[in-house]
Amino acid sequence: MKRLKSCLAALVALLTMSCTANANQSSTNQNETNMDKQGKTLVVFFSHAGENYSVGNIKVGNTKIVADYISEMTGADQFEIVADKDYDMPYMQLIEVAKQETHDGELPPMVDKLENVDQYDTVFIGGPVWWGTYPQVMFTFFRDYDLNGKTIIPFTTHEGSGLASCVEDVKTAYPNADVKPGFAIYGHDVRSGRSKVEKWLKGLGF
Ligand SMILES: Cc1cc2nc3c(=O)[nH]c(=O)nc-3n(C[C@H](O)[C@H](O)[C@H](O)COP(=O)(O)O)c2cc1C
Repeated sequence: MKRLKSCLAALVALLTMSCTANANQSSTNQNETNMDKQGKTLVVFFSHAGENYSVGNIKVGNTKIVADYISEMTGADQFEIVADKDYDMPYMQLIEVAKQETHDGELPPMVDKLENVDQYDTVFIGGPVWWGTYPQVMFTFFRDYDLNGKTIIPFTTHEGSGLASCVEDVKTAYPNADVKPGFAIYGHDVRSGRSKVEKWLKGLGF
């Protein structure tokens, strides 16, 4: 009974999030423009391993799997955003922590620094959707690193909200970047979704 109740609570939380989020479901290859790939490419991402909705207790986060596909297929370097904040907790607790930090516009510090961002012309930016946008620590990255003038390709993993407001939020952070249409994939699909990522990248000219 207790288990049933917590499953229902998780479902209600997720449905609430999906409704409050901008349910931009253009989850794959719509409106994409072929781009010239030139210069060096970087994948910046945040991903949370541990207990999550729909996939159970995972050792490697959903977004990291997509980031790894991108690096394998394009040769892009990687920078993983790691928050200097403890998110190691059960899913239902994390939902509340994330809700509060989104509400407060908190900017948790990052553990690592990205060196020499100037060497990159194209930057993939990816993360899970948390309460309708990227996790707040990604906004710490946006505050600290200037990607204006570069080509930015956003992507998300999610459980119903698609791109949510992530692309718009990247455009707001970097008004002078060339922000391409985003790519979204369900978190529970990523392990079998390599070909979807490949198709998206080929559509972009990689
Ligand atoms: C705190 C939290 C908030 C979430 N909020 C949303 C949401 O608003 N919309 C949605 O579709 N999925 C939401 N999800 C599901 C995640 O976006 C999805 O499981 C994602 O693939 C997780 O990626 P990761 O393993 O790389 O962290 C949320 C998950 C967590 C843990």
